[in-house]
Amino acid sequence: MESRVWHPYTQMGDWSKFDSITRGKGMWLYDSRGRRLLDGVASMWCNVWGHSREELVRSMVSQTRRLQHSSLFNLTNDKAEELARMLVRMAPNMYRVFYSDDGSTAMEVSVKMALQYWHNKDEKRKTRIATLENGYHGDTVGAMSLGYVPAFFSSYKPLLFPAFRTPAPDRYRLPPGFTFERFQDHCLDKIEGVLSKHENIAAFVMESGAQVAGGVTIFPDGFQKKVGKICRDHGALFILDEIATGLGRLGSMVEYKTQGCVPDIVSFGKMLTAGYLPLAATLATKEIYESFLGQYKDMKHFFHGHTFTGNPLACATAIANLRLYKRHNLISRVEKSSAYLQKRAAEITRLEIVGDVRHKGMLMGIELVSDAVKKTPISPDKKVYQKVFKEAKKHGIYLRTLGHIVMLVPPLAMPEEDLEFLVDGTISTIRNVSKKI
Ligand SMILES: Cc1ncc(COP(=O)(O)O)c(C=O)c1O
Repeated sequence: MESRVWHPYTQMGDWSKFDSITRGKGMWLYDSRGRRLLDGVASMWCNVWGHSREELVRSMVSQTRRLQHSSLFNLTNDKAEELARMLVRMAPNMYRVFYSDDGSTAMEVSVKMALQYWHNKDEKRKTRIATLENGYHGDTVGAMSLGYVPAFFSSYKPLLFPAFRTPAPDRYRLPPGFTFERFQDHCLDKIEGVLSKHENIAAFVMESGAQVAGGVTIFPDGFQKKVGKICRDHGALFILDEIATGLGRLGSMVEYKTQGCVPDIVSFGKMLTAGYLPLAATLATKEIYESFLGQYKDMKHFFHGHTFTGNPLACATAIANLRLYKRHNLISRVEKSSAYLQKRAAEITRLEIVGDVRHKGMLMGIELVSDAVKKTPISPDKKVYQKVFKEAKKHGIYLRTLGHIVMLVPPLAMPEEDLEFLVDGTISTIRNVSKKI
């Protein structure tokens, strides 16, 4: 039967058919023919406990029997309330939670909130956004404007709002003549330069802890804290995106806490429901929230909302998930798994076409290059993304690359024996792919 599905970020002409996944159990995905694949990318970086985790399924079934959906327009629901309380307890300095459906919409919410904050305070000039080069914040129009990836988004450029962009502290590709320390200072100077020159900047937006889709650039300790301070000094809000990096991915529940900084607005998504249902949350400080209070006629309230904002089923799943984090002390398990990945990183670095391996927590980016000295990325016409996927399948693992970067983003609770299978399979995959390009 001919498929009618159009797949995301996929050159459909390259694929005659896709394996159909019909079941998931633990760390494994099973296809319609009963073959299994280890989920090496946590089903797009969101799975926490593996698939079909009993406690989560039970909470979903029980919530489904009680209430599937009721909106937050003029009403509330017990699960949205309980989850919001849990989130503000977890995230220092945050006061209120605004729900949306996915990471992209959470970032739209962040930016709209920031602009309206200034508008409500009668600072109507503050309408511009500054951000880091090479960031990624999602695929909706506002999110693409923030994380503008030229290779992906150039055809939509006429629709996007302009943003000030400053370089990110990329350790692998330093500009000539720079040490990494000097380059970090240079990046901070650039941010300071833009914010001091343009008083109309409403907010500075960045991923918290690391840029992920931009190629796994892990920020050096102290960088983010200094950015926060620059924002405060220059009267710009500091917006963090913890959609891919919070809730354990980098080894901390709340990455900004580890980094010793405090944003004005922060978003979580992906792992919030353990990767079982779409849900994201944008958290704001009391100061931001209170700027939206007033008389109805003042029109200061937040003009944003989705059909499924605060969906009780997704919120109930997130509550059950966050309880599991505590019960099983997941963050300390991630620490051990991270140490295992770090131990294996050296082996991966030695592979012929590997230029660089970047790792933190349960995130690893393996950059494949055609010339290790010049650090030349393997060209897109080598179709590395497809070769890696097919070769990995032969080794029983599901991998998805970001262009020429192999991503290891396993479910956070992946046990060591599965991590070993994943790393062994990845090494064999890269070895075999290197013979074919
Ligand atoms: C840092 C970051 N922000 C936002 C998003 C967008 O999230 P979503 O795909 O759920 O819209 C992503 C997705 O990968 C992301 O990595």
